[in-house]
Amino acid sequence: AAATRYEAESATIVQGAAESNHSGYSGTGFVNGDNVVGSYVEFTVTAASAGTGQIAIRYSNGTTAGRPADVAVGGTVVSAARAFNATADWNTWATSTLTTPVKAGSNKIRLTSTTANGLPNLDYIDF
Ligand code: GCU
Ligand code: CA
Repeated sequence: AAATRYEAESATIVQGAAESNHSGYSGTGFVNGDNVVGSYVEFTVTAASAGTGQIAIRYSNGTTAGRPADVAVGGTVVSAARAFNATADWNTWATSTLTTPVKAGSNKIRLTSTTANGLPNLDYIDF
């Protein structure tokens, strides 16, 4: 089935804020997570059926250092310290795609920073 877009600025944000002071984002902005370990954005997505789902994460990282984050689905980390490497600047966005088991219906997808550099800026996920 075609993917559905879930904007980060509409997700649950813990230690961060929706902002719009860079360009190129979808929707009304992006999430700037606090630059600490443990800041997170949690999306609630709907899967038509149990099986394997594809998550495409759009992000920006205008620094020179990676911004790794754990990706968890339903409370289980499916990609630990996933790399979100530098993009050219904060106006440049990249997409990181992974596949994960999902259950039928509602699934919570959480991205949690694993270093004191915090999360990359997050635009959306397509699921
Ligand atoms: C800058 C940038 C933010 C970004 C932050 C960071 O302040 O404007 O969008 O989130 O750096 O380093 O995390
Ligand atoms: Ca930040």
